Amino acid sequence: MIKINEHYHKLQASYLFANINKRVREFQAAHPERELVWLGIGDVTQPLPNACITAFHKAVDELADARTFRGYGPEQGYAFLREAIAKGDFAARGADIQPDEIFVSDGAKCDVGNIQELFASDIRVAISDPVYPVYVDTNVMAGRTGEARDGRYPGLTYLDCTPENGYAPQLPDGPVDLIYLCSPNNPTGATLSREQLQAWVDYARENRALILFDAAYEAFIRDDSLVHSIYEIPGAQDVAIEFRSFSKTAGFTGVRCAYAVVPKRCMAYTAAGAPVSVRDLWTRRHTTKFNGVSYPVQRAAEAVYSAEGQREVRTLIDYYLRNAAYVREALQRMGLACVGGDNSPYIWVQSDRDSWAFFDYLLNEAGVVCTPGAGFGRCGEHHIRISAFNSFENIQKAMQRIADVLQA
Ligand code: MLT
Repeated sequence: MIKINEHYHKLQASYLFANINKRVREFQAAHPERELVWLGIGDVTQPLPNACITAFHKAVDELADARTFRGYGPEQGYAFLREAIAKGDFAARGADIQPDEIFVSDGAKCDVGNIQELFASDIRVAISDPVYPVYVDTNVMAGRTGEARDGRYPGLTYLDCTPENGYAPQLPDGPVDLIYLCSPNNPTGATLSREQLQAWVDYARENRALILFDAAYEAFIRDDSLVHSIYEIPGAQDVAIEFRSFSKTAGFTGVRCAYAVVPKRCMAYTAAGAPVSVRDLWTRRHTTKFNGVSYPVQRAAEAVYSAEGQREVRTLIDYYLRNAAYVREALQRMGLACVGGDNSPYIWVQSDRDSWAFFDYLLNEAGVVCTPGAGFGRCGEHHIRISAFNSFENIQKAMQRIADVLQA
């Protein structure tokens, strides 16, 4: 008899954004005349930068000619892209990351979900609450938790991120082995300062723990006092893996390209306490389960690092940041407390209402789709998340509609 992985039964019936899409489809079926503005899932709306499009076309043409055709590429990614990343994203910020420490993939979601396979099932995992649900669900699937109770899984250490602590995860009371950090944060938009990150790196070094640092939104940082990479923090290379994505940076959500950095100095331990290179384990996993990102996509990603690509990406991000600032100011004028939206495309909005009820209210009354905070964890209750990924015109329309229904 074929048996299932029973841990899947501990999960909520569907993934957060699938659940939201279902509710919105039902609403649309009942009200086909209503036009909605989507400020829910963080999906980009603006076209790819020209530099990427040109490189993409050129690479497709190369595949059309037997002399320049390419089949399987290196699983870890082409050297041209890994070298461009090492130089553009790390050397430029004083972080010494080598191309052979970079693993190109088809998405940060996949990487951040898959990485936990490298570690024992009895490790202690710390996650922020609210949190990007992939961190939690993949650990549930792997059997690291009990059955959910009151929206929480026994076996996980939750780090509450609340208005009182500025939505910043604090060091845990007890020991943990694997720590998920995300800055600029999804969903709150809050950022971790250099000092806060240094405290986490010091904690990981003292406890032989490992930090999984999700930096998918680093391109939105405009505050020069903030780091873009955890490797700008002394000592981080021994204890941290970083995840980056071209999705939100260069509009690649549909194109798919991301990367993980696993430094050679980064160690995990056998049951007997012997150090093992995490990079070697990830290489083994990546080469076994992944056959690389397509050649044209990697050429398009490489173009992000050209002078033209850098200018265009900056313009693209500025566009969404202008949206974010508009959303935040509009909501604050309505008397709602918000964070995020300055170094982040997400605005995290506090409300007295139940978060799913507020989601339904905005959908039904204003025709605006947001994300209910409770979908990101217990501490997300009484919050919603608004995404700035849409056209400026739609952002203005959505804020006007919300103002109209809230102030009616
Ligand atoms: C989000 O809206 O939280 C993100 O788009 C999800 C993702 O990047 O997978």
